[in-house]
Amino acid sequence: MSTTFQLDTSTSRANPTPRPRKRLTVPKIRDHKKDGLTKEPLVMLTAYTARQAQLLDEHCDLLLVGDSLGQVIYGLDSTLPVTLDMMIAHGAAVVRGSYHAVVVVDMPFGAYEASKEQAFEAASKIMSDTGCAAVKLEGGEAMAETITFLTNRGIPVMAHVGLTPQAVNVLGGYAARGRSQEEHEKILRDAKSVQDAGAFAVVAEGVVEPIAISMTKSLKIPVIGIGASAECDGQVLVTEDMLGMFERVPRFVKRYEDMASVISKAAATYAEEVRTRAFPGEDQTYQPKT
Ligand code: KIV
Repeated sequence: MSTTFQLDTSTSRANPTPRPRKRLTVPKIRDHKKDGLTKEPLVMLTAYTARQAQLLDEHCDLLLVGDSLGQVIYGLDSTLPVTLDMMIAHGAAVVRGSYHAVVVVDMPFGAYEASKEQAFEAASKIMSDTGCAAVKLEGGEAMAETITFLTNRGIPVMAHVGLTPQAVNVLGGYAARGRSQEEHEKILRDAKSVQDAGAFAVVAEGVVEPIAISMTKSLKIPVIGIGASAECDGQVLVTEDMLGMFERVPRFVKRYEDMASVISKAAATYAEEVRTRAFPGEDQTYQPKT
């Protein structure tokens, strides 16, 4: 067995490392919704690094290695330039840092749209190189055939409908979707077709609430909302957004911390101590043995 996906507990900076727990599975996530109903919503957050995964794992049912890492980690202006190699490097780190949550890795733009065979090649590489449990791809009806092809070949797929950021140039921006009757009906058709194609869950992003509610009520698979509705079967947020790392976030984000201020304050104190030679102090300095 490859050790690529396992953390070396003797070298990990986290001590003690989180206790290994039995990992949730894709069927458990799918079957969490029984007879069209979810008692307790599923919790999903994005994670891009091993340490972040360690800290989030015990609180989450799913960790998403989202291609949002392009903007959040790499400072890109969209998810479009994100590559398969980037997704694989971060996906493997998150699998290494987690024990309990189902890890889902995003398929990057350009790696799956050309054909179902191209999608299988990319998805199988993501799964074998990271050890993740599933992939996520954007698109509804247009992706149905691909979803069936992948799931029939051992690759669980989470779908993503509504506001699909990889289609930003077609959509013309990141505004909420489904305000017209035509768009409303299209999004519901997309959701139904990814379910029928075999997706085990679907992310509904940036849709007007009535769409999210009817999707949640009508689908058998869990609907995970982001900018959707509290009535969804689960919720996902970009972790850095909910931690308050950025000044500009979408309206649907709730900030649970103000990490940007915490980091800035710590850096300012460090800078001050370096400049005044207060750091390093005695505790941080090695002396010869006497
Ligand atoms: O890339 C991502 O983080 C996502 C979530 C916002 C759902 O797709």
